[in-house]
Amino acid sequence: MQVKIEKKSILDVNADVIIVNLFEGVKNPAGVTGIVNKEYKNLISEYVIKKEKFTGKYGEIYKLPLPDKEKIILIAGLGSQKDFTADKIRNLTAKIVRNCSSLGNVKKIVSILHGAGIAGLCPQLCAQMITEGAISGTYSFDKYKSVKNEIKIKEFIIAETDNEKYKKAKKGVETGIIVGNAVNNTRNLINESSQYLYPETLAQYAVENSGVKTTVYNKAHIKKMGMNAFLAVGQGSVHEPKFIHMEYKPEKKAKRKIAIVGKGITFDAGGLDLKPPSSMLTMRDDMSGAAAVISTMNAISQLKPDVEVHGIIAACENMPSGSAYKPGDVIIAKTGRSIEIDNTDAEGRVTLADALAYAEELKVDEIIDIATLTGACMVALGTVASGIMGNNDKKIQEFIQTAKEAGERYWQLPMYEEYGDTLKSDIADTKNTGGRMGGASAAGIFLSKFIKNTPWIHIDIAGTAFLETKNDEGIKGGIGVGVRSLIKYITK
Ligand code: BES
Ligand code: MN
Ligand code: ZN
Repeated sequence: MQVKIEKKSILDVNADVIIVNLFEGVKNPAGVTGIVNKEYKNLISEYVIKKEKFTGKYGEIYKLPLPDKEKIILIAGLGSQKDFTADKIRNLTAKIVRNCSSLGNVKKIVSILHGAGIAGLCPQLCAQMITEGAISGTYSFDKYKSVKNEIKIKEFIIAETDNEKYKKAKKGVETGIIVGNAVNNTRNLINESSQYLYPETLAQYAVENSGVKTTVYNKAHIKKMGMNAFLAVGQGSVHEPKFIHMEYKPEKKAKRKIAIVGKGITFDAGGLDLKPPSSMLTMRDDMSGAAAVISTMNAISQLKPDVEVHGIIAACENMPSGSAYKPGDVIIAKTGRSIEIDNTDAEGRVTLADALAYAEELKVDEIIDIATLTGACMVALGTVASGIMGNNDKKIQEFIQTAKEAGERYWQLPMYEEYGDTLKSDIADTKNTGGRMGGASAAGIFLSKFIKNTPWIHIDIAGTAFLETKNDEGIKGGIGVGVRSLIKYITK
């Protein structure tokens, strides 16, 4: 589907569906909705609002078929004006597009620039939200279905006559296309079966799709770089581990340098500490952090900020086998710190220990890791918010705020020293895990031991990366969480 903006009246675009909106409680539509109302003999005010009792509650949708033409006016409720946010535009648009797809014969949609009228939001932001929502709304993972969810919608047009608003909105559409596709590509990677997506194919994907210089290191090279912790996790698999380094360098001198590190366990069986079936079922999603990093790099390659960005992934599979790493093994990580393996299922942090150490050697100004790291984080925050921690409160707060603007929720978890008590080992510098209590924070403390002094943010997306039931955008399975926030945080 193509999203475009046209400098035309909504009435002059020939489409199958015309999308307008109403705030809650409005009886006499103004703005573009008012124009459409007038054009069609006050059907919106007299019929939809008065007779059909359309209230304008957020997410309410009314489809008004026009008698003489093969056209539908779709009226969407924006909710109360005081609670209105740009973020709602994205979710609403996704919902609208889904709704239109279910009509079957809709090829072309024309929409009002929600939010840029009475609500007075920035037209660029509104257009970006609509575009992201429209792209998200057409997402489905049906590559393995013999009957595809064929999406007939070919064009989604935003109509805007005001020159200033049009110009700003055009930029918003451009950004929205980049971000929306980044999110959908992340979802595709997460949803892909691990039988096809393993370290080598993930690395190949990065080479072909990151849009930036991408170097892939094989096992021998990883060994040379001293990443024994990473290698230990992957040693039980028939698939060779791959270390992926993507680099974006701006044309101008970089204002800052950032490394983003994604957990890239292409399947987490738990290793010899095997997971029970119900926990293992969705563990192809254990590379959601890596997927977010690859897609973010691709978006960055197009948005071209004056920031140097490194995308780093230590990709491997955590499997039980005769060659698998074992509880009680002691491994010397890249930094020289020794790790006693207490539980082979706490593998993400072991791979990240080396990936973070590698990132720190790049002499960046900050490091952000994103990982489906702990079930404990999922227990704490559910599927509603991702956990965030780190060694730099200011940057954590900055990230939370930026993410909020990108429509994602992060909740800071504590990193009190005591959470590290359970990690004390009799035979090594640290154990990889201690107990179940405070598990998300303990994992954070573990990671912190592999960073010397670079400002660092750790994001735990165990609960938010993959959903069993649909979210506000109507998406289940891989969500693409983190992508919008990372892009916004890097480009702001
Ligand atoms: N990949 C899992 C964490 C996870 C759990 C992600 C649920 C998504 C949904 C991670 O590698 C893991 O197994 N963590 C263990 C750690 C424990 C052994 C200390 C956990 O959380 O149970
Ligand atoms: Mn695990
Ligand atoms: Zn894992």
